[in-house]
Amino acid sequence: MTKTDNHSRRMDNIAPFYVMDIVNRVKELEQEGRDIVRMEVGEPDFVTVEPIIQAGIEALQNGCTKYTSSLGIVELRKKISLYYQEKFGVDVPYERIVITNGASGALMLAMGVLVNYADRVILSDPGYPCNRHFVRMFDGDPVMLPVDASTNYQLSASMVEKCHEKGAKAVLLSTPSNPTGTIIAIDDIARIHQICAANGSELIVDEIYHGLVYDSDPPSAVTVSDDLFVINSFSKYFGMTGWRLGWMVVPEKYVDAIDRLSQNVFLSAPTMAQYAAIEAFNPKTIQILEQRKQKLKKRRDYLLPELQKIGFIIDAEPQGAFYLYADCSKFTDDSYKFCLDLLENAGVAITPGIDFGKHNENKYVRFAYVSSMERLKSGVERLASYLS
Ligand SMILES: Cc1ncc(COP(=O)(O)O)c(C=O)c1O
Repeated sequence: MTKTDNHSRRMDNIAPFYVMDIVNRVKELEQEGRDIVRMEVGEPDFVTVEPIIQAGIEALQNGCTKYTSSLGIVELRKKISLYYQEKFGVDVPYERIVITNGASGALMLAMGVLVNYADRVILSDPGYPCNRHFVRMFDGDPVMLPVDASTNYQLSASMVEKCHEKGAKAVLLSTPSNPTGTIIAIDDIARIHQICAANGSELIVDEIYHGLVYDSDPPSAVTVSDDLFVINSFSKYFGMTGWRLGWMVVPEKYVDAIDRLSQNVFLSAPTMAQYAAIEAFNPKTIQILEQRKQKLKKRRDYLLPELQKIGFIIDAEPQGAFYLYADCSKFTDDSYKFCLDLLENAGVAITPGIDFGKHNENKYVRFAYVSSMERLKSGVERLASYLS
């Protein structure tokens, strides 16, 4: 992290993505002609599906090139409302659904309307790196609670309750989790919601990987209550990372504040992307997305036991997303150096645990099964031969 005299003090606490060092080195090595099996970044190898691309092109041709309402276009908000109705049997009025600039925009807006100076926001460690930074952006205090296999790498109700003894403004859950792919049961979300309600704090549930749960079909947190924030995105299940589009279901009492902040910060989410995303809910599109999901499941089912055979420990079943969070302490006590070493000497790129928090961060690495099965097989062979 570079320290300068001029940048705000809050920037001292905004860490970079360490994986970017890996990504940059991958690019250099590839330019030198090295073949690298890439399992480091959080986006699969698929491009956006054709029906969505076509809808995007048509949107541009039809002149959808101007700002929209900062809450998003009503057609898309209604589609998402219908999706909740059809998939989970729950009525989420479109007026409470806000279109955002990815889940990132949603997280920023949620923290922006909730967090005052020094407010505590409860997060899991390990967790998505940006979460703590969104809290710090508003001068809040991210309270990172260590989690492990005993709670499926998720916050438990008792942890959240204990933490409220010192006060908290909000609790953020991510299910399935990045980096572990583990999920939290809907009953536990409901329990945590009750604790938040009893203590005057807000619950935010990040469901960005919710469409990518492989062996079950868990209900969305929107089924728990009208009084929590639920974040989702077109990035992962819908394969639209670069379109920068997501959404957030907002408790009614916060819609106006979210609208005001969004008007000031974003003006609107990308217009072309919003029109294209209407197509994302078309049954034909969903069919293609489900086929992709099956491919990801096959990759997980292959990679998990293979990594265990090599000596990595994965002690909680990763039920979703496209990540495996593996204990690498058999090989190293420095996850960052280990990742650089694997990249240079085995030609395999993965992410060090130091990106995801401070809890045993040097004992873990994250594998993202974002390459084809053939590439994963080649990666496993390289790892097995280098680490044996
Ligand atoms: C848990 C989690 N939340 C939010 C995001 C942000 O996603 P986006 O802004 O692309 O929707 C990511 C991206 O990897 C993530 O893993």
